[in-house]
Amino acid sequence: MAELGKDINRAKQLLDRGELVAIPTETVYGLAANALDATAAARIFAAKNRPSFDPLIVHVATAMRVHELVTDFPDQAQALAATFWPGPLTLVLPKKNHIPDLVTAGLPTVGVRCPSHELTLELLHLLDYPLAAPSANPFGYVSPTRPEHVQEQLGSRVAYILDGGPCRVGVESTIVGFDDGPVIYRLGGVAVEEIENVVGRVRVMTHSSSNPVAPGQLASHYAPARQIVLGNIAELLTQHPNEKLALLRYHKRLPDTPVPQIVLSSSGSLEEAAQNLFAALRQFDKMDVTLVLAELVPDTGIGRAINDRLRRAATSR
Ligand code: TXA
Ligand code: MG
Repeated sequence: MAELGKDINRAKQLLDRGELVAIPTETVYGLAANALDATAAARIFAAKNRPSFDPLIVHVATAMRVHELVTDFPDQAQALAATFWPGPLTLVLPKKNHIPDLVTAGLPTVGVRCPSHELTLELLHLLDYPLAAPSANPFGYVSPTRPEHVQEQLGSRVAYILDGGPCRVGVESTIVGFDDGPVIYRLGGVAVEEIENVVGRVRVMTHSSSNPVAPGQLASHYAPARQIVLGNIAELLTQHPNEKLALLRYHKRLPDTPVPQIVLSSSGSLEEAAQNLFAALRQFDKMDVTLVLAELVPDTGIGRAINDRLRRAATSR
């Protein structure tokens, strides 16, 4: 079991020694280490069983600190940072040489983000290096949105879990790069519409096969153990009579249906649904069921990121 608490000085002490600390962010919990120390960063890959081709996101205290990490911080990227930071947005920019190649998986770019969580921001301000932090889950599994999710899976591999409570956003950051204009590589906490309000039209390129740039977009990423089938739940129910079923509903229970159901947002709020999504997927893995029937949510705002994660969770491995 990892030590759990709200002590940022304890977290700093461990990070200064090159150890791993789980940190709360508004999106999901991260598994953090000194981003400028290759040995420390290597511990992240080992703890997660993460392949070395999958780059880490580097977390900074302020947008000003980005200049220390990149060779170019274009106007559009600065405008996005000014609008959404601290917040659920990662910018992919050309990296400076002192960032270890391990952190960026050998790419010439680095993903940077200023997260919006009081404890983690305080910690970042205390440190004299940025924090490399992927989501704090074993590679390929659903991201953790509560400290107990980290404890359950990585408790024996992390020195300390900084307890920041449940994550406010619940899905990972939106990743934006620049390749002849802004490109979204991963749908996330900042909606496509919100990005376009700042920089105009963006291309959305989130498919793994055509997009080796963002290996985190493997089709079967964010996958729980339980098999998930997506579609119209009433129809799916008639097609799977012999399974032990559970249902993942957006905002209403399906009446007169004697199987366990999880409702993502009883008020029909996409923000609330995003907050609850990953905890729900983890809950199914603890239930005595063989198949989860799930429906997509409205494909607008953060709903696009929810649907992206549902599709990846449903892709059988
Ligand atoms: O919300 C988040 O972004 C969370 C919290 C902890 O900040 N972090 C997170 O990290 O989701 P992770 O490792 O689970 O996902 C990072 C993904 C990589 O898999 C890759 O797709 C993309 O970020 N990425 C990182 N650096 C990149 C780069 N230089 N170029 C393209 N994609 C990059
Ligand atoms: Mg991840």
